[in-house]
Amino acid sequence: MPAELPVNSPISLPVNLPRHVGIIMDGNGRWARQKGLPREVGHEHGADAVRRVVRAARAIGIEALTLFAFSSQNWDRPPQEVFHLMALLNRYLLEERSEILDNGIRLITVGDTERLPGYVRDPMRELIAASAHHTDMTLCLALSYGGREMITEAARRLCRAVAAGKLRPEDVDARAFEAQLDSSRLLPPLDLLIRTSGEHRISNFFLWEVAYAELFFSEAMWPDFAREHLQAALDDYARRERRFGTVPDAEAAEEPGYPGLFPPQRGKG
Ligand code: IPE
Ligand code: IPE
Ligand code: MG
Repeated sequence: MPAELPVNSPISLPVNLPRHVGIIMDGNGRWARQKGLPREVGHEHGADAVRRVVRAARAIGIEALTLFAFSSQNWDRPPQEVFHLMALLNRYLLEERSEILDNGIRLITVGDTERLPGYVRDPMRELIAASAHHTDMTLCLALSYGGREMITEAARRLCRAVAAGKLRPEDVDARAFEAQLDSSRLLPPLDLLIRTSGEHRISNFFLWEVAYAELFFSEAMWPDFAREHLQAALDDYARRERRFGTVPDAEAAEEPGYPGLFPPQRGKG
């Protein structure tokens, strides 16, 4: 059951609630610059937004939330910014430990976490293990994560299996490929992808997973993102019609039949 909601918070009914929401948390630096502050201050307020949004998602009843916190390419930022982000991650893991454990949240990660410094990896692994049996919500942190890197890694695993004679090349289909991605083993399919800060790009996040996800772009800078912004995205999602390349059932049933040369084959057989 979702945690209790604050008394006067608007509750939208969980109609068409996405199972898995991903967020590209962008705009910390611009948020700070607009205020004449160093980028680092933007990241600190960004960490506060993470706390708020995790709590809101848990209260609303989202099954899985993936936060894109640090990309494979973010390693190329100035060393002092990378260090500050790692220190913030360490602080987040220590300070949110009880919030995560007390609220039945399971922590997982995707990405090349071997690259993270020990002072991030150790508390992260400890919390992943301590929360592994939780079922109320999955919080997935995408760390040192790159969609292309994940796809390349999946291809490498399949190549190894073929080279070892464990798999035939003709058996490499979308399903076999997807099975090699950590996201598909650990998470429900991505339903809704939110990006903040008014940028309209994926920036190497869930490239495979985004295939049929609904996209929502928010103008809010990440440090300003709060429960009402998440709710706006969920309300918008609830009104979408997802077709996955097909025709809605009702329309297919009503199809009068095209009288031309190539009548539709639908419904035959
Ligand atoms: C997002 O904010 C945080 C990370 C990518 C780690 P940015 O640091 O990208 O902020 P902008 O996009 O420069 O404003
Ligand atoms: C995407 O934001 C990465 C994360 C939110 C972790 P970036 O700020 O790194 O992406 P670009 O540079 O705007 O594409
Ligand atoms: Mg950015």
